[in-house]
Amino acid sequence: MTKAQFQVFPSPEAVAGAVASHIGGVVRTRPQTVLGLATGKTFVPIYEALVRLSGETGLSFAEASSFNLDEYVGLAPDHPASFRRYMEDNFFRHVDLPAERALLPEAGGDAEAACLAYEAAIAARGGIDVQLLGIGRNGHIGFNEPGSAFDGRTQVARLTPSTIAANTSDFPAGELPPPEAITMGIGTILDAREIVLVATGAAKAEALTRAFVALPDRDCPASALQQHAHVTVFCDEAAFAGMGRPA
Ligand code: F6R
Repeated sequence: MTKAQFQVFPSPEAVAGAVASHIGGVVRTRPQTVLGLATGKTFVPIYEALVRLSGETGLSFAEASSFNLDEYVGLAPDHPASFRRYMEDNFFRHVDLPAERALLPEAGGDAEAACLAYEAAIAARGGIDVQLLGIGRNGHIGFNEPGSAFDGRTQVARLTPSTIAANTSDFPAGELPPPEAITMGIGTILDAREIVLVATGAAKAEALTRAFVALPDRDCPASALQQHAHVTVFCDEAAFAGMGRPA
């Protein structure tokens, strides 16, 4: 049985406000917080709410650090669909988090070396305090697709056809997502002291049920989170709809 706590809200906007205020509280309490960040459609309103909170309350990230979960292999940082660009546009550019401490995997050169360097950089900061996660319809977290080992470290991962299909709309017309990405491994994610998983919309209901109602299974990477002692799931009613039913 999962130890995860669930916070259920009527709408994605309400989820965004609650996640922003939770993260704001963490950073206010410990200004040197090491954040693990995620990208994707789910997080657009969350960064918007966090930027608004920072503007309205003076919440500062000046002493914080961040490590994003993943980045496509081979995309230039300023490519419109790179996760670096997403983070600059949605968050980094609007807050006072120092650029040298706002890191994503370096997916442009020697990818294997970049994976090791990323693990070392996280360790050198003392590990991740709070890791934000979305969830794929197939249960992926980061780019850890079904079948990934629960003790995996930062690595080069191959995207499944369903993830490529889900992310194609982020790319300019006629362009497909790269087939590979660097992602924190599930073991890296589980090392975070706290995990906040966010799921909104009916399309995530089945994945949430498989992750938290069924027994942990490598076919659903998010089910590894059942092993973690401090997980909070922030979701809307549509994503929560299947919970309580057998997966
Ligand atoms: C993004 C990431 C992915 C997304 C997931 C859900 O950094 O790691 O695991 O969280 O694919 O994406 P959306 O929110 O677009 O449905």
